[in-house]
Parts: sequence; C-alpha cells; structure tokens
Amino acid sequence: MSTERKVLDHFHADARRFDAIYEEHKDPLTRFIDHVWRGVVRRRMDLTLDKLGDLRGRSVLDVGCGSGRYCVAFAARGASRVVGVDFAPAMIDLARTIATNAGVADRCTYIVGAFPDDVPPETFDVSTAMGFFDYIPDPARMVAAMRERTRSTMVMSFPKANEWRVPIRRVRFRMLGCPLFLYTEERTRAVLKDAGVRDYEWIPLDRDYIVIARAG
Ligand SMILES: C[S@@+](CC[C@H](N)C(=O)[O-])C[C@H]1O[C@@H](n2cnc3c(N)ncnc32)[C@H](O)[C@@H]1O
Repeated sequence: MSTERKVLDHFHADARRFDAIYEEHKDPLTRFIDHVWRGVVRRRMDLTLDKLGDLRGRSVLDVGCGSGRYCVAFAARGASRVVGVDFAPAMIDLARTIATNAGVADRCTYIVGAFPDDVPPETFDVSTAMGFFDYIPDPARMVAAMRERTRSTMVMSFPKANEWRVPIRRVRFRMLGCPLFLYTEERTRAVLKDAGVRDYEWIPLDRDYIVIARAG
C-alpha cells in the first residue's frame, strides 16, 4: 500500500477524533491529554490567525485542511474565497458541515483530493499547510507547489525530529500503520531552499517549527 493511501485511510477513519481536539466541551482527562499531547494543534492555529491578521477580501488555500477549522476561521476573518483540500473524504464531510453551521459555506470550497495533483492551477493571496508535512515523503515538491499557487504569504508547520514526545509518537503511528515524517531544523531549511523559499520567519512552537514565508 502506498504512503499516500496509508495516510488517507488513517485520517478517513480518525476524522472525528482529530476534530475533537478543537471542541471546547470535553471531560477533564481528555482536556489534560489534549493539552499536553496535542496542544500544538490549537496553539499553531492561534499563531497562524494572529500572524495573518485581517483577511478581508483575500483568498486562501488550505492544504491538508482536515475538518476545515482553519477555513472557517479564515472566512470569519473576512476572506472572500477559501479553498480547502484534503484527500480524506470523512475530513471534508466534517469541513462542509462545520462551514455550514458557521454560516460561511458560501465562501468555502472543499476539494476531496490529493495536493497538488487534484487542485486546479488557481493562485491565492495566502496558503497554509498546518499539520500536513508530518505525512509527506517529498516535502520540497509540496512547498514548491504551494509557492506556485501563492501570491503573498505561506504558513507551514514542520514537526520537530528532536522533541520529548517523539519516541512515543513514532511508536503510536507505527501501531496505527500511518507513516510519519519528522524534521530537524537543518532539514527543514534545506526543504525550503530546494523549493525556492528564501524569505521567511522561523518560529519554534512546542513540537513544531512554524514557517511564515513570502511566496515571491
Ligand atoms: C493532521 S491533519 C491536519 C488538518 C488541519 N490542517 C488542521 O491542522 O486542523 C493532516 C491532514 O492532511 C491530509 N493530507 C495529507 N497528505 C495529503 C495530500 N497529499 N493531499 C491532501 N490531503 C493530504 C490528511 O488527510 C489529514 O486530514
């Protein structure tokens, strides 16, 4: 089975559990585990929204959008067009429901498919790929494809290879049968260079490196 297929199957089956990280109402034990183990998922979203600021009239591509929590937040901050792409159908089903419930479905378009091959060659003001490179064997190709589709700013997260949670995370993903790719600072910077990204802000955040790059 290909790497892509294993990742797709994992997130198709895991969509609801993944999205629950964003839920406000949960029991104290789940809240504690989410905070320690997956707190970065929410922290990197807060950071992304803070860095992008006012999105009025702007277009955004969200690569590996999952359940579309970023897409809804971008639309709520005024983005005129948001396209989310994810190859896990259950993630996109959730994303459509969440956008409808938030009243922003008219500005959110979702594509069930693989980035970049299934995404039409449209360009956007902003692109994001958060919690995406963890599952990507050829990251420079993906960053380059994002760059081609972005006029202004790209926001990306890369999971650190050297971090206290890594050994457990590796075992967990091996047991789940889902590939996992981790990055040193040196490798991440090499990926960015190979993709032609030279001008960027580098922010270590919890178990991730966050990169905010100028696409040009
Ligand atoms: C950990 S989730 C992150 C979701 C969302 N960005 C967030 O942070 O809430 C990663 C998502 O990337 C998707 N994905 C991985 N590789 C992909 C590819 N090549 N094309 C489209 N989606 C992909 C998976 O299906 C999964 O839903």
